[in-house]
Amino acid sequence: MKKQRQKQEWKPFLRLLREAKIPWGLYIFNLAASMLLSTVLMRMPWVAGQIMAGEIFDRSLVITYIVVMLVSTVVNIPLSLLSSWTGYRADRNLRRIVWKRIVHMPQKDLDRIPPTSMVSRVTNDTASISYGISYCFDLVSTIYSLGVVLVTVWGINHQVTWMMLLLIPFIILASIPSHFMHDAKDEAQNALARYTNFLSERLSSIKQIKAFNAEEDEDRLNDAAAREYFKANVRMTRLSMISEPLIYSMDAVVQAIVLVFGGYLLSQAVLTSEDIVTLFMYAGSISVYAYQFVFFWQALKQSQGAARTASQIVETPGEVMERKRSFSIPDADIRLENVSFAYENGQKVLDDLSLVIPKGKTTAIVGPSGSGKTTVLKLLERLYQPSSGRILFGDIPAEDIHLNEWRESFGMVPQNSPLLFGTIRDNILYGVEEKTGEKLLDSAVEKANVQEILNRLPDGILSDVGDVGSRLSGGEKQRIALARMMIRDPEYLILDEATSALDAENEHQITEALQRLMEGRTSVVVAHSLRTIEHADHIIFLENGKVQASGTHGELLRTNPTYQRYVELQKGEC
Ligand SMILES: Nc1ncnc2c1ncn2[C@@H]1O[C@H](COP(=O)(O)OP(=O)(O)OP(=O)(O)O)[C@@H](O)[C@H]1O
Ligand SMILES: [Mg+2]
Repeated sequence: MKKQRQKQEWKPFLRLLREAKIPWGLYIFNLAASMLLSTVLMRMPWVAGQIMAGEIFDRSLVITYIVVMLVSTVVNIPLSLLSSWTGYRADRNLRRIVWKRIVHMPQKDLDRIPPTSMVSRVTNDTASISYGISYCFDLVSTIYSLGVVLVTVWGINHQVTWMMLLLIPFIILASIPSHFMHDAKDEAQNALARYTNFLSERLSSIKQIKAFNAEEDEDRLNDAAAREYFKANVRMTRLSMISEPLIYSMDAVVQAIVLVFGGYLLSQAVLTSEDIVTLFMYAGSISVYAYQFVFFWQALKQSQGAARTASQIVETPGEVMERKRSFSIPDADIRLENVSFAYENGQKVLDDLSLVIPKGKTTAIVGPSGSGKTTVLKLLERLYQPSSGRILFGDIPAEDIHLNEWRESFGMVPQNSPLLFGTIRDNILYGVEEKTGEKLLDSAVEKANVQEILNRLPDGILSDVGDVGSRLSGGEKQRIALARMMIRDPEYLILDEATSALDAENEHQITEALQRLMEGRTSVVVAHSLRTIEHADHIIFLENGKVQASGTHGELLRTNPTYQRYVELQKGEC
């Protein structure tokens, strides 16, 4: 498959840097200090040249040599520490901005990127970008140092300096592969993102791998996934190999200029032998700076390549929280009007759906698996926008109401209740103010039957839940998610099979607590349990993303044979 060449734009890269609040002041200070240091050090080849030319007994020369060497060593230590610290700060700020943009990204955009591949975007890509910034300053410092050496050499002899122009074609030729390194680095970072994606997915499914005796298959899959990253790195090394001979030739060219051309000028008595020694000393610096120029330019292009996806993430517009109206308006019915919806793959999941969620009532959404129940709840939470049609709150389009206020009013218990890393207490109090949460904690723990779990654990409410709640059973996680929702005490309840993982005893107790909670509130429940369905004021029966029927349980049983059959099947399962 032919790889598509990426457009190598600087604008998004520069915008990313502007947004990330890079500590430019510190970088400039470092640059100024290193330029000052290299200006002082630039005298050294001259001093060394003088000493080698026989001025060994000139005390002031020797003292200058020793003092400059000592001072530069002492100054270099804090400077290099400061430079590392500046780099880490830039890393941190870049990570902050990329992470901020990820959490604020609309769900539809997040669906396009595997979440676990974002790990390397936040960690590795940002590190490459901050290296790039340092290289950019190193590039300026190198150009400056090269300039200072050339000026010094100019002071010794103009003709030798003109001859140094012979280096330019070498520098240009050696820099050409940098252009391709942009794409190679972009590809390497993508391969690394895919590899971290593979690893994190696999690590979170390790129990499944063991249960299926699939360790050997996984070894092979890991090799394949790692090979891609390896190949991308090899490609980069190959590209840098093109520059290597040219870079090494530069040293030979500079030495040849000094030895051959300088030797000729010596024979013509234009230069003294002292000049030749000094020029020879400077020749070393010239080729090092020329080499560094190529190296830093390559590194900068790589960094630009590494920043491509991170820049795209930062460029993606975040969710707009601020809308035209506040949600502090009288409670009204919520209506979905001719709503159609498709996820990223484009397949229609909801098709011209119209329904009403009456205020202060409990609405049950029922229907076969895959009919679109959870999707309707996601639209109600405004995690996604309908592809067509609209959601209304009374007569006000939902999209006109501030998004943060809307979401704050909705308490959702999702179908599978993921927990976050931390203690049970952290999870129950997640997203609420500590003080308010504290007061309601005991009652929520009791109502959601969490106490029973706490009694069993040595650290009680301070026990770690493990990675995404891996130390707890499905039912336990669900009870913690219910307690979390009860603490938020939301105006609107959205429950997606919220009691499906519970045993009969727990389900009975929690359903009663939930029904008390639902009284007088607008609630939307997706449930298979007949008890919950019968208790609902209003039922919406979905099939293939369309509303098959709506009404009370009794009405639907009388009028809708499909619903009748659905209920019969549910009874059979009970
Ligand atoms: N993020 C997604 N990307 C693409 N398709 C999705 C996504 N989430 C759900 N779907 C698809 O949308 C359809 C409806 O899914 P939804 O989760 O709304 O069904 P459901 O009625 O809640 O089913 P269940 O009773 O099994 O929970 C399914 O065909 C599902 O495969
Ligand atoms: Mg569902």
